[in-house]
Amino acid sequence: MLKIGMIGAGFVATFHERALRSVRNAELAGVCALKGAETLAQKARQDHLGDTKVYGTIAELVKAVDVVCVFAPNFVRVDMMRQIAAAVEDGTRIKGIIVEKPLARNYAEAETLARIAKAMGVPTAYFENQIHMPSVVQARTQLTQVEKAMGAPHLARSAEEHGGPHEPWFWDPTTQGGGVCCDMGCHSIACGMYMVTPTGKPLTHLKPLRVNATMALLKWGKEPWRSQLKQRGVDYAKIPAEDYSSVSIELEDPDTKHRSIVQATNSWMYDAPGLRLLMETFGPGYSYTVNSLQSPAGMFISDAAAAAVIDSELALEKSQATRGSLILQPDEASLYGYVAEWIDALTAFEQGRDALLNLEYGRQITLLIMAAYMSHEQRKVVDLTDPATLGELETYIPLIQQGKGSLVL
Ligand SMILES: NC(=O)c1ccc[n+]([C@@H]2O[C@H](COP(=O)([O-])OP(=O)(O)OC[C@H]3O[C@@H](n4cnc5c(N)ncnc54)[C@H](O)[C@@H]3O)[C@@H](O)[C@H]2O)c1
Repeated sequence: MLKIGMIGAGFVATFHERALRSVRNAELAGVCALKGAETLAQKARQDHLGDTKVYGTIAELVKAVDVVCVFAPNFVRVDMMRQIAAAVEDGTRIKGIIVEKPLARNYAEAETLARIAKAMGVPTAYFENQIHMPSVVQARTQLTQVEKAMGAPHLARSAEEHGGPHEPWFWDPTTQGGGVCCDMGCHSIACGMYMVTPTGKPLTHLKPLRVNATMALLKWGKEPWRSQLKQRGVDYAKIPAEDYSSVSIELEDPDTKHRSIVQATNSWMYDAPGLRLLMETFGPGYSYTVNSLQSPAGMFISDAAAAAVIDSELALEKSQATRGSLILQPDEASLYGYVAEWIDALTAFEQGRDALLNLEYGRQITLLIMAAYMSHEQRKVVDLTDPATLGELETYIPLIQQGKGSLVL
């Protein structure tokens, strides 16, 4: 039985608590957060996930658990990893460290996180749930023989869209790292690359050659939306971030020289019955599509009955409606891949190794996100085969992340 300790008790930690109900051999032993820790611990106890305790410091939490999870905002990650490392240096033994996507706000931070974790010698997991989505994994499994006969996929389109994040720190590019590209582009880039990676090859097998991106502030810079954000303490007239991003990555298989393309599209302007993950993959003679808003089940809530619904997200993540025709997904934690990513990580930690996706992988995804920002900022295709460009990306902080987004949006 692995004892899990969560740093952060907000939206994603709560989702993971839901996911852990479907995971064996794990107990949610502790939570440490500025806000929400007691509520989450109480929920976990009610759900029989263990005698979940609240810890006041990261050092105390690390001492009490086997696996430490960083489920806190992007701007506190480096400091938190240093606190975990200090506890480990003091003699605490842990079996694994999990860090949620995106690994960091920029490449330098991602590199620091990966380096500190490596120096600790503790196995890691980078939580990128979409690669674990059962529908995507099943499509690939079912196509294994077809792919062997016909060849690897050549095009993947991957999109995640919703109406905008729940907390102000996500909207502020200086705290989050950017707008929708940093927040959700990391999912779509990683999942898109997974979908074109030949079956059986490591997830970093394909070599990214070029990145071309376009970003824009299409909705939230306009009224009345801008004023709505301002009421939440976010001023997009002064410090804007992109609410739309389209990233195209050209990849090459180093063994076969086969070329493939990933198109990652993300937006914070999808006003719809819920978050939508849309993935399409095209290979020679085959294809598949995944749409998280398609369900065999649905429901209807009339205007008369809607007053009884207090929370639209009871229906679906990022749902914006409490009435009308709604989509019914009975197990979102499984649908989005959370359950499978836990099983993968905990199995790996029990065996003393990294999960399928480790912090080093997260570092590589961060490099691609930085390349996307550079492409938009400089209005050019970023050549990842050029050593000078790679060197530049290592210290690059996008203008949007610096709070100077009005120069490029
Ligand atoms: N995989 C996904 O689809 C997914 C979904 C949502 C969020 N996330 C990621 O998870 C991370 C957290 O997002 P969230 O939505 O849960 O945020 P949130 O704002 O809802 O919750 C953040 C939590 O961290 C705590 N916290 C903040 N600073 C802290 C500090 N210095 N010390 C201790 N606790 C601190 C807060 O009190 C809160 O409990 C983000 O990086 C986000 O990108 C991933």
